[in-house]
Formats: sequence, structure tokens, C-alpha cells
Amino acid sequence: MQILYDAADALFESQNVSDDALFSVISSDDEKFREYLFEKARSRAVEIFGNKIYTRGLIEFTNYCKNDCLYCGIRRSNKNALRYRLTKDEILECCAEGYELGFRTFVLQGGEDPFYTDELICEIVREIRSGFPDCAITLSIGEKPRESYAAYREAGADRYLLRHETINPKHYSRLHPPELSLENRVRCLRDLKDLGFQVGCGFMVGSPYQTLENLVEDLRFIKDFSPHMIGIGPFIPHTDTPFASKRSGSLELTLVLIAVLRLMNPRALIPATTALGTINPRGRELGVLAGANVVMPNLSPVSVRKKYSLYNNKICTGEEAAECRGCLARRMESIGYELSVSRGDYPG
Ligand code: 5AD
Ligand code: FES
Repeated sequence: MQILYDAADALFESQNVSDDALFSVISSDDEKFREYLFEKARSRAVEIFGNKIYTRGLIEFTNYCKNDCLYCGIRRSNKNALRYRLTKDEILECCAEGYELGFRTFVLQGGEDPFYTDELICEIVREIRSGFPDCAITLSIGEKPRESYAAYREAGADRYLLRHETINPKHYSRLHPPELSLENRVRCLRDLKDLGFQVGCGFMVGSPYQTLENLVEDLRFIKDFSPHMIGIGPFIPHTDTPFASKRSGSLELTLVLIAVLRLMNPRALIPATTALGTINPRGRELGVLAGANVVMPNLSPVSVRKKYSLYNNKICTGEEAAECRGCLARRMESIGYELSVSRGDYPG
């Protein structure tokens, strides 16, 4: 037991411990120890970000996807998905509404949808850039050639989210169709960083076939890659996928991993994700209390929300943007935090 507390202290002091120690920490189901770990992680977050929680307005602008990831509800093989695309004007409308509500970062997320050519994405980015010059623009649109990323950057995009999903090649191949490779995924992440994006990677907790050893590998990869943002959330099955009968990832393990990631990567922007809020009604609050410092409420039009269904029972699909912002503000206040109206850039 003392080994665990020593590992938590070492993580706090030196932002690192051995793989064996990481394994012990994430294996523990001792509640007292977990509370100790969360306390360390949130004090580190408060030291850097105060009691401010950054917000990002998420605009899910297309659920068409050419890929077929086995876990994902919008995979191309899901013939039950009701597909939609937002026009440039609809996207700008979401930004305008979001700006009024206090969002200073817009995240454009979608499936890998060839309808949105690089030219179209650049046009959308340029219009957001000129209409909302004080806002950060984040893209989350998957794997592209380096030249495409360069064009998005040139057009004014600041940040890019691309979860690596798992850094273990065998595990990667059990979650993805053969045409997708971990190698290209990592190539994308390196190109994005090289082009000057603030970059986010991350993974699902409890995805099928994942082991605790895999998670240690993910923690190590993230430490080495040193991303600006780290997104993790529990895997949640979607009925119309090959993983329909798999179990959801655990709340407790997700919280432990958030805490360890905070301690290993003190300045990283780490969201308390919607998936975390989906597996537990207080999941996002618990995420913040374990060291997360970002929330990403939905700005998509309510008419399309249910259609952006990556997993079952997703929360916030019936609420207007203003309701979600208000709801999250109250939730954060209930635990002593405040939503921030700022771009919330990586703290240097
Ligand atoms: N459960 C939880 N998260 C999922 N994602 C995709 N499908 C699921 C699921 N079934 C996550 C992936 C992806 C991000 C946009 O959503 O990690 O990178
Ligand atoms: Fe959307 Fe609570 S955050 S309803």
C-alpha cells in the first residue's frame, strides 16, 4: 500500500514514475488511495488554472464518415444512422450563438466526410476566423495528408484533436478496419504538431480487448509526445456496431487515468468529457475533481444532436446550447469552480 502513496507523491513531485508503478496505481481499487490521488491531481490543476474551467463549444457538423471503426456509431457500415451535414452558414450560426453565450473556442468535429473538401474546410475556417477574431478554432476531422493540415493552419485553425485511441498496434487493429493503421495516426499527430497546431490526443477507457498494460503504454506515449490537450472518456457501446454487446468502460478507472494524466502532464488541457457525463450523472464534476480543467458543451443545432450518435444514451441531445452552458455553469459552481470566458490556450 505504501508503494502506491509513494508513487502518487513521486508523480506529484517529478511528473513521472516507472511503468511498474503506473501499473500498480491504475490497478488499485482502494478508495482511500484513489481519493488521495484525486486530491493531488486537482491541487496541481488548481495551481495552474485556478478554479477556472475552460469551455469549448462543440459543433458536430457532419455524421457522414468514410471510415468503419468498430466502436463508433457513425461508422460507414451503420445503415441505421440518419446522416446529416451542416452548411457553412449553419456552422457560422452556431458560432454566433456560442459567442453570445461566452464561448471563445469553437471545435468543429465530424466524421471523415469527403463532401467537405480541403477548400470548403478552409473557407469555413477563414470565415470563422474573420467573424470571430478573438476565438480559437479547433478542428477534429480525422486523418488527412500533411498538405491538408498545412492548408487548415494557413486558413487560421489553431488546434486539432485526434485521439490516438490506443498506442498498441495489435490492440489498434482489433478496434479498426485493416485500411486504418496506427502508423498513419501517429504520423498525423506528428505532422500537426510540426505545423504549429496545439494538438490533442487521447483514448477510450475500457475499449474492447484493452488491458491495463495497454493503458500504461498509452500513458507513456502521451508523456513522450507531450500533447497540449488530452481527451479520454469511457468506451460506451453503440447498438448498431460490432461492439454492441461489449461492456462500458469504468467510471473509477477513467477518473484514476485523468488524475495520473494530470500529474504526468501538469499543463495539459484535459476535458471532463460528455462520455464521462453519460456513464454517471455526476461524471463531469468527478472528472474535474480528479484533475480535468475543460468542458465541451454542445453547440450543434438540437435538430441534429441525436444523429451524432457515437455511443448509446449520449447526454445533452435535447438541450439548447444555452441550457447546456447554464447547466454546466451550475454543476461547476456546485463543486467550487467557475466557467471561464476566454480562449483557454495551452499555458505556455
Ligand atoms: N464510446 C466512447 N467514445 C467513443 N468514441 C467513438 N466511439 C465511441 C464509443 N462507442 C470517441 C473516440 C473518438 C471520439 C471522437 O469519440 O475516441 O476519437
Ligand atoms: Fe447539457 Fe447539462 S450540460 S443538459
